Amino acid sequence: MPDYSAYTAIKVEIDAENIAWITFNRPEKRNAMSPALHFEMEDALMKLETDDACKVMVVTGAGDSFSAGMDLKEYFRATDNNPDLRFRSLTAVKRWSDLLTWTRKPTIAMINGWCFGGAFAPLAACDICVAAEEATFGLSEVNWGILPGGNIAKVFSDLCNSRDALFYAMTGRTFDGKKAVQMGVANMAVPLADLREETRKICRELMAKGPAVLAYTKQAVKAVRDLPMDMAWEYLGAKSQALRGADPEKTREKGMAEFLDKKTYRPGLQPVKRS
Ligand code: ACO
Repeated sequence: MPDYSAYTAIKVEIDAENIAWITFNRPEKRNAMSPALHFEMEDALMKLETDDACKVMVVTGAGDSFSAGMDLKEYFRATDNNPDLRFRSLTAVKRWSDLLTWTRKPTIAMINGWCFGGAFAPLAACDICVAAEEATFGLSEVNWGILPGGNIAKVFSDLCNSRDALFYAMTGRTFDGKKAVQMGVANMAVPLADLREETRKICRELMAKGPAVLAYTKQAVKAVRDLPMDMAWEYLGAKSQALRGADPEKTREKGMAEFLDKKTYRPGLQPVKRS
Protein backbone atom coordinates (compact mmCIF):
# COMPACT_ATOMS: atom_id res chain seq x y z
CA MET A 1 0.00 0.00 0.00
CA PRO A 2 1.47 3.39 -0.95
CA ASP A 3 2.66 5.61 1.88
CA TYR A 4 1.55 9.25 1.81
CA SER A 5 2.70 10.15 5.31
CA ALA A 6 5.98 11.92 4.48
CA TYR A 7 4.47 14.91 2.73
CA THR A 8 4.69 18.31 4.37
CA ALA A 9 3.24 20.69 1.76
CA ILE A 10 0.25 18.51 0.96
CA LYS A 11 -1.83 15.96 2.84
CA VAL A 12 -3.32 12.84 1.27
CA GLU A 13 -6.03 10.94 3.13
CA ILE A 14 -8.11 8.10 1.73
CA ASP A 15 -11.30 7.72 3.73
CA ALA A 16 -13.53 4.71 4.38
CA GLU A 17 -15.61 5.54 1.30
CA ASN A 18 -12.48 5.35 -0.92
CA ILE A 19 -12.40 9.09 -1.53
CA ALA A 20 -8.83 10.43 -1.70
CA TRP A 21 -8.71 13.93 -0.22
CA ILE A 22 -5.64 15.74 -1.55
CA THR A 23 -5.17 18.89 0.49
CA PHE A 24 -2.74 21.73 -0.21
CA ASN A 25 -1.43 22.04 3.30
CA ARG A 26 0.35 25.34 3.86
CA PRO A 27 -2.52 27.28 5.42
CA GLU A 28 -0.15 29.79 7.04
CA LYS A 29 0.91 30.73 3.46
CA ARG A 30 -2.63 30.44 2.11
CA ASN A 31 -1.48 27.21 0.41
CA ALA A 32 0.78 29.05 -2.01
CA MET A 33 2.45 26.49 -4.23
CA SER A 34 6.13 26.05 -3.44
CA PRO A 35 8.58 23.80 -5.32
CA ALA A 36 8.17 21.21 -2.52
CA LEU A 37 4.39 21.23 -3.05
CA HIS A 38 4.86 20.57 -6.76
CA PHE A 39 7.26 17.66 -6.15
CA GLU A 40 4.88 16.13 -3.61
CA MET A 41 1.87 16.51 -5.89
CA GLU A 42 3.67 14.68 -8.67
CA ASP A 43 4.69 11.88 -6.32
CA ALA A 44 1.21 11.56 -4.80
CA LEU A 45 -0.60 11.47 -8.14
CA MET A 46 1.77 8.79 -9.45
CA LYS A 47 0.93 6.66 -6.42
CA LEU A 48 -2.83 7.34 -6.38
CA GLU A 49 -3.21 6.24 -9.99
CA THR A 50 -2.62 2.60 -9.12
CA ASP A 51 -3.79 2.68 -5.50
CA ASP A 52 -6.94 0.53 -5.50
CA ALA A 53 -8.10 2.21 -2.28
CA CYS A 54 -8.58 5.47 -4.21
CA LYS A 55 -11.74 5.53 -6.33
CA VAL A 56 -12.13 9.29 -6.71
CA MET A 57 -9.89 12.26 -5.93
CA VAL A 58 -10.85 15.58 -4.37
CA VAL A 59 -8.31 18.41 -4.48
CA THR A 60 -8.78 21.14 -1.90
CA GLY A 61 -6.95 23.44 0.49
CA ALA A 62 -6.39 23.59 4.24
CA GLY A 63 -7.81 26.52 6.18
CA ASP A 64 -9.53 29.40 4.43
CA SER A 65 -7.69 29.09 1.13
CA PHE A 66 -7.77 26.72 -1.84
CA SER A 67 -4.45 28.13 -2.99
CA ALA A 68 -3.08 31.66 -3.31
CA GLY A 69 -1.29 30.54 -6.48
CA MET A 70 2.40 30.12 -7.06
CA ASP A 71 4.57 30.96 -4.08
CA LEU A 72 5.96 34.37 -5.00
CA LYS A 73 8.90 33.86 -2.63
CA GLU A 74 9.82 30.20 -3.04
CA TYR A 75 8.69 29.52 -6.60
CA PHE A 76 9.58 32.88 -8.19
CA ARG A 77 12.07 35.02 -6.26
CA ALA A 78 14.11 32.20 -4.75
CA THR A 79 14.58 30.55 -8.14
CA ASP A 80 15.57 33.72 -10.04
CA ASN A 81 19.21 32.71 -9.63
CA ASN A 82 18.63 29.00 -9.40
CA PRO A 83 17.85 27.79 -12.93
CA ASP A 84 18.04 24.15 -11.85
CA LEU A 85 15.31 24.50 -9.19
CA ARG A 86 13.27 26.78 -11.48
CA PHE A 87 13.38 24.16 -14.25
CA ARG A 88 12.60 21.24 -11.95
CA SER A 89 9.69 23.12 -10.35
CA LEU A 90 8.22 24.22 -13.67
CA THR A 91 8.40 20.75 -15.19
CA ALA A 92 6.92 19.24 -12.01
CA VAL A 93 3.93 21.58 -12.38
CA LYS A 94 3.50 20.47 -15.97
CA ARG A 95 3.79 16.80 -15.04
CA TRP A 96 1.37 16.86 -12.12
CA SER A 97 -1.11 18.98 -14.06
CA ASP A 98 -0.98 16.36 -16.83
CA LEU A 99 -1.35 13.51 -14.32
CA LEU A 100 -4.38 15.21 -12.77
CA THR A 101 -5.90 15.97 -16.18
CA TRP A 102 -5.56 12.46 -17.58
CA THR A 103 -5.91 10.24 -14.52
CA ARG A 104 -8.39 7.41 -15.02
CA LYS A 105 -10.01 8.24 -11.67
CA PRO A 106 -12.67 10.95 -11.45
CA THR A 107 -11.40 14.22 -9.98
CA ILE A 108 -13.12 17.11 -8.24
CA ALA A 109 -11.63 20.51 -7.40
CA MET A 110 -13.28 21.63 -4.16
CA ILE A 111 -12.64 25.38 -3.97
CA ASN A 112 -12.97 26.34 -0.35
CA GLY A 113 -11.52 29.87 -0.41
CA TRP A 114 -8.83 31.97 -2.12
CA CYS A 115 -8.02 30.74 -5.61
CA PHE A 116 -5.46 32.81 -7.48
CA GLY A 117 -3.20 32.55 -10.49
CA GLY A 118 -1.44 29.18 -10.57
CA ALA A 119 -4.29 27.62 -8.57
CA PHE A 120 -6.28 27.55 -11.80
CA ALA A 121 -4.02 24.72 -12.99
CA PRO A 122 -5.45 22.11 -10.58
CA LEU A 123 -8.91 23.70 -10.85
CA ALA A 124 -8.93 23.23 -14.63
CA ALA A 125 -7.23 19.82 -14.54
CA CYS A 126 -10.01 18.35 -12.41
CA ASP A 127 -13.06 16.97 -14.19
CA ILE A 128 -15.55 18.77 -11.95
CA CYS A 129 -15.30 21.94 -9.89
CA VAL A 130 -17.44 22.63 -6.83
CA ALA A 131 -16.93 26.04 -5.25
CA ALA A 132 -17.94 27.69 -2.03
CA GLU A 133 -20.15 30.69 -2.79
CA GLU A 134 -17.80 32.64 -0.53
CA ALA A 135 -14.64 31.63 -2.43
CA THR A 136 -12.61 34.39 -4.11
CA PHE A 137 -11.05 33.79 -7.51
CA GLY A 138 -8.64 35.96 -9.43
CA LEU A 139 -5.98 36.04 -12.10
CA SER A 140 -3.72 38.41 -10.25
CA GLU A 141 -0.58 37.87 -12.32
CA VAL A 142 -0.97 41.28 -13.95
CA ASN A 143 -0.37 42.84 -10.53
CA TRP A 144 2.99 41.09 -10.26
CA GLY A 145 4.31 42.16 -13.63
CA ILE A 146 3.90 38.69 -15.05
CA LEU A 147 1.36 37.08 -17.35
CA PRO A 148 -0.73 33.98 -16.59
CA GLY A 149 2.00 31.56 -17.67
CA GLY A 150 2.43 27.82 -17.38
CA ASN A 151 -0.89 26.80 -18.87
CA ILE A 152 -3.04 29.31 -16.95
CA ALA A 153 -3.99 31.72 -19.76
CA LYS A 154 -4.83 28.68 -21.89
CA VAL A 155 -6.92 26.76 -19.36
CA PHE A 156 -8.70 29.90 -18.18
CA SER A 157 -9.67 30.98 -21.68
CA ASP A 158 -10.73 27.39 -22.47
CA LEU A 159 -13.06 27.44 -19.44
CA CYS A 160 -14.75 30.78 -19.96
CA ASN A 161 -15.65 33.06 -22.86
CA SER A 162 -12.96 35.24 -24.36
CA ARG A 163 -14.47 38.51 -23.03
CA ASP A 164 -14.29 37.23 -19.43
CA ALA A 165 -10.85 35.70 -20.01
CA LEU A 166 -9.46 39.03 -21.19
CA PHE A 167 -11.34 41.14 -18.63
CA TYR A 168 -10.20 39.16 -15.59
CA ALA A 169 -6.65 38.58 -16.88
CA MET A 170 -6.18 42.25 -17.71
CA THR A 171 -7.81 43.84 -14.65
CA GLY A 172 -6.88 41.22 -12.04
CA ARG A 173 -10.34 41.78 -10.55
CA THR A 174 -11.68 39.05 -8.28
CA PHE A 175 -14.97 37.15 -8.52
CA ASP A 176 -16.91 34.86 -6.19
CA GLY A 177 -18.21 31.29 -6.43
CA LYS A 178 -21.55 32.23 -7.99
CA LYS A 179 -19.83 34.29 -10.67
CA ALA A 180 -17.42 31.39 -11.28
CA VAL A 181 -20.43 29.21 -12.12
CA GLN A 182 -21.87 31.83 -14.50
CA MET A 183 -18.51 32.01 -16.25
CA GLY A 184 -18.12 28.24 -16.61
CA VAL A 185 -15.17 28.10 -14.22
CA ALA A 186 -17.11 25.98 -11.68
CA ASN A 187 -20.00 23.53 -12.03
CA MET A 188 -21.78 24.67 -8.90
CA ALA A 189 -21.43 26.96 -5.94
CA VAL A 190 -22.77 26.04 -2.52
CA PRO A 191 -22.49 27.68 0.89
CA LEU A 192 -19.09 26.96 2.43
CA ALA A 193 -20.77 25.10 5.30
CA ASP A 194 -22.19 22.56 2.81
CA LEU A 195 -19.17 22.30 0.53
CA ARG A 196 -17.71 19.03 1.82
CA GLU A 197 -21.04 17.21 2.00
CA GLU A 198 -22.10 18.35 -1.49
CA THR A 199 -18.72 17.20 -2.80
CA ARG A 200 -19.15 13.84 -1.07
CA LYS A 201 -22.53 13.41 -2.78
CA ILE A 202 -20.94 13.88 -6.19
CA CYS A 203 -18.16 11.44 -5.24
CA ARG A 204 -20.75 8.81 -4.32
CA GLU A 205 -22.59 9.37 -7.58
CA LEU A 206 -19.39 8.95 -9.56
CA MET A 207 -18.29 5.87 -7.64
CA ALA A 208 -21.63 4.25 -8.47
CA LYS A 209 -20.70 4.18 -12.19
CA GLY A 210 -18.50 1.58 -13.86
CA PRO A 211 -14.90 2.76 -13.27
CA ALA A 212 -13.68 1.78 -16.74
CA VAL A 213 -16.67 3.45 -18.40
CA LEU A 214 -16.07 6.61 -16.40
CA ALA A 215 -12.32 6.63 -17.18
CA TYR A 216 -12.89 6.21 -20.92
CA THR A 217 -15.70 8.79 -20.90
CA LYS A 218 -13.71 11.52 -19.20
CA GLN A 219 -10.64 10.90 -21.32
CA ALA A 220 -12.74 10.92 -24.50
CA VAL A 221 -14.48 14.20 -23.63
CA LYS A 222 -11.13 15.85 -22.93
CA ALA A 223 -9.37 14.37 -25.95
CA VAL A 224 -11.96 15.46 -28.55
CA ARG A 225 -12.10 19.06 -27.37
CA ASP A 226 -9.41 20.24 -29.78
CA LEU A 227 -9.95 17.66 -32.53
CA PRO A 228 -11.62 18.42 -35.86
CA MET A 229 -15.01 16.68 -36.28
CA ASP A 230 -13.77 13.89 -38.57
CA MET A 231 -10.86 13.06 -36.29
CA ALA A 232 -13.16 13.13 -33.26
CA TRP A 233 -15.54 10.75 -35.02
CA GLU A 234 -12.73 8.31 -35.76
CA TYR A 235 -11.18 8.64 -32.30
CA LEU A 236 -14.48 8.09 -30.51
CA GLY A 237 -15.21 5.02 -32.64
CA ALA A 238 -11.88 3.49 -31.73
CA LYS A 239 -12.20 4.49 -28.07
CA SER A 240 -15.71 2.96 -27.88
CA GLN A 241 -14.42 -0.32 -29.29
CA ALA A 242 -11.50 -0.26 -26.86
CA LEU A 243 -13.86 0.26 -23.92
CA ARG A 244 -15.82 -2.87 -24.78
CA GLY A 245 -12.64 -4.88 -24.26
CA ALA A 246 -11.46 -2.90 -21.25
CA ASP A 247 -14.53 -3.02 -19.01
CA PRO A 248 -14.25 -6.06 -16.73
CA GLU A 249 -17.75 -5.38 -15.36
CA LYS A 250 -19.35 -5.57 -18.81
CA THR A 251 -21.45 -2.53 -17.92
CA ARG A 252 -22.79 -2.20 -21.48
CA GLU A 253 -24.20 -5.73 -21.67
CA LYS A 254 -25.45 -5.62 -18.09
CA GLY A 255 -27.14 -2.25 -18.48
CA MET A 256 -28.88 -3.21 -21.70
CA ALA A 257 -30.09 -6.51 -20.25
CA GLU A 258 -31.48 -4.72 -17.21
CA PHE A 259 -33.34 -2.19 -19.36
CA LEU A 260 -34.40 -4.31 -22.34
CA ASP A 261 -34.90 -7.81 -20.89
CA LYS A 262 -35.36 -7.66 -17.12
CA LYS A 263 -36.89 -4.16 -17.20
CA THR A 264 -35.39 -3.46 -13.80
CA TYR A 265 -33.56 -0.25 -14.66
CA ARG A 266 -34.50 3.05 -16.32
CA PRO A 267 -31.64 5.56 -16.39
CA GLY A 268 -34.00 8.53 -16.85
CA LEU A 269 -35.57 7.68 -13.51
CA GLN A 270 -32.61 6.13 -11.69
CA PRO A 271 -29.48 8.09 -12.58
CA VAL A 272 -27.18 5.88 -10.51
CA LYS A 273 -27.06 2.31 -11.72
CA ARG A 274 -24.58 0.26 -9.69
CA SER A 275 -25.52 -0.60 -6.13
N1 ACO B 1 3.12 33.52 -2.48
C1 ACO B 1 3.85 33.55 -1.36
N2 ACO B 1 3.34 33.80 -0.14
C2 ACO B 1 2.02 34.06 -0.08
C3 ACO B 1 1.20 34.04 -1.20
C4 ACO B 1 1.79 33.76 -2.46
N3 ACO B 1 1.10 33.67 -3.59
N4 ACO B 1 -0.06 34.33 -0.80
C5 ACO B 1 -0.01 34.50 0.52
N5 ACO B 1 1.25 34.35 0.96
C6 ACO B 1 1.75 34.45 2.33
C7 ACO B 1 1.93 35.89 2.77
O1 ACO B 1 3.17 36.42 2.32
C8 ACO B 1 1.88 35.74 4.27
O2 ACO B 1 3.12 35.24 4.70
P1 ACO B 1 3.80 35.83 6.07
O3 ACO B 1 2.84 35.42 7.17
O4 ACO B 1 5.10 35.11 6.16
O5 ACO B 1 3.88 37.30 5.91
C9 ACO B 1 0.86 34.63 4.46
O6 ACO B 1 0.80 33.91 3.23
C10 ACO B 1 -0.53 35.12 4.76
O7 ACO B 1 -0.86 36.05 3.77
P2 ACO B 1 -1.77 37.33 4.08
O8 ACO B 1 -1.70 38.22 2.88
O9 ACO B 1 -1.36 37.94 5.39
O10 ACO B 1 -3.21 36.65 4.26
P3 ACO B 1 -4.65 37.29 4.03
O11 ACO B 1 -5.60 36.23 4.51
O12 ACO B 1 -4.74 38.63 4.61
O13 ACO B 1 -4.80 37.43 2.45
C11 ACO B 1 -4.65 36.65 0.18
C12 ACO B 1 -4.89 36.28 1.64
C13 ACO B 1 -5.75 37.59 -0.32
C14 ACO B 1 -4.66 35.35 -0.64
C15 ACO B 1 -3.30 37.40 0.02
O14 ACO B 1 -2.27 36.68 0.72
C16 ACO B 1 -2.84 37.57 -1.41
O15 ACO B 1 -3.29 38.49 -2.08
N6 ACO B 1 -1.90 36.70 -1.86
C17 ACO B 1 -1.39 36.77 -3.20
C18 ACO B 1 -2.32 36.11 -4.18
C19 ACO B 1 -1.76 36.17 -5.58
O16 ACO B 1 -1.64 37.22 -6.17
N7 ACO B 1 -1.43 34.98 -6.15
C20 ACO B 1 -0.94 34.86 -7.50
C21 ACO B 1 0.53 34.66 -7.46
S1 ACO B 1 1.18 34.68 -9.11
C22 ACO B 1 0.88 33.16 -9.75
O17 ACO B 1 0.22 32.32 -9.18
C23 ACO B 1 1.48 32.77 -11.15
